Amino acid sequence: MRAFMFLFTFFAFMLVSPSLAVNVVGYGARGDGRTDSTAAFHRAWAAACRSARPAVVYVPRGLFLIRPVAFNGPCRSRITFRIDGTLVAPRNIYAIGNSEFWILFYKVSGLSLQGGTIDARGNGFWNCRTRGQNCPRGSRSLTIMHSNNVVVSGLRSFNSQTIHIAVGHSRDVKLQNVRIRAPSGSPNTDGIHVQSSMGVTITDSVIKTGDDCISIGPGAMNLWIQRIGCGPGHGISIGSLGNSHNEEGVENVTVTNVVFSRTQNGVRVKSWGRPSGGYARNLHFRNIVMRYVANPIIIDQQYCPNGGCARQSSGVKVSEVTYKNIKGTSSTQAAMKFECSAANPCSGIRLHNIRLSFVDRLRRPTLAYCRNAKGSHSGVVTPKTCFSFHKTKLNM
Ligand SMILES: *[C@@H]1O[C@H](CO)[C@@H](O)[C@H](O)[C@H]1NC(C)=O
Repeated sequence: MRAFMFLFTFFAFMLVSPSLAVNVVGYGARGDGRTDSTAAFHRAWAAACRSARPAVVYVPRGLFLIRPVAFNGPCRSRITFRIDGTLVAPRNIYAIGNSEFWILFYKVSGLSLQGGTIDARGNGFWNCRTRGQNCPRGSRSLTIMHSNNVVVSGLRSFNSQTIHIAVGHSRDVKLQNVRIRAPSGSPNTDGIHVQSSMGVTITDSVIKTGDDCISIGPGAMNLWIQRIGCGPGHGISIGSLGNSHNEEGVENVTVTNVVFSRTQNGVRVKSWGRPSGGYARNLHFRNIVMRYVANPIIIDQQYCPNGGCARQSSGVKVSEVTYKNIKGTSSTQAAMKFECSAANPCSGIRLHNIRLSFVDRLRRPTLAYCRNAKGSHSGVVTPKTCFSFHKTKLNM
């Protein structure tokens, strides 16, 4: 009985025991859009990170000017980062442009980032790039590196210089209810990039950018992508893979309940057309709607933007790829393209219930294009498949 009372009191205490509250304003941050609040955010984070109790870092309403900031771990306890305000980067493109990251979480385990708007104001940087001047390298907006058990929910990220959200060398990261927006013409402004990470899920998000909505790099495993609106942008892309010779593979990726609107690609697998030891396998694309997409379904293993791949073929082995319940419209006639490696033909491609029509005044049908692709189909598949081996064939 006494032991019970003790336990009861202990748990009651735990339940009401307040977490440490750390308001960035208390550390000198000003939400006036002019005062540099970087050092204040840093001090607030340090206080939260050394707390033995779970801590809540709070950013109230207001416009907080932030230069590159690294929130480093490991921390002693869980941290919740709650943002009601907006974080903006300085207008000078060099202020964040040479650091690679703008907001970095590094070696943090047990983090919940809730709400908030981050605006890198990247247009000065894009203009510099577009004019081909001497520009800084550009920085990602939010980077999560070497971190585990991270939840990012309700974040809005606008106008990143390069990638909006990057996840690398991390495990069990959930990105949910995220809104990402950059103009359709902004260069290399990927929405979310994941690589060298296990157990990342991206759900219930809307992504409109000038590059890939989601790009998946080497070493991504057990990635789950569900209920996403994508477009404008370049679609969801696995790759480019096979850039370097010794490269991790991509394995077990599911993309489901996604609507692509006016994107350059729908679901794409892309690899360099040159030797490499990489692979992409167990990829599942299902329950997808295409609205006026230029390349709804595409595997392109001949990527070689600057030449130098002549008479070589991709070393990346693509296998066990399923496409199921994919419907909608293509803005080009070739709605399905499997352009696989001669050295490593694609295998185990499965198509089930695909209906893609061509938006065409002449009412021409969509076409499938295959090279070095082996697979099977069931249910209705339009355009008709063209699986073969070591030969090119166009089917009507
Ligand atoms: C594939 O990844 C999902 C999470 O995205 C996971 O639940 C599942 O267990 C993984 N499958 C295998 C065979 O590892």
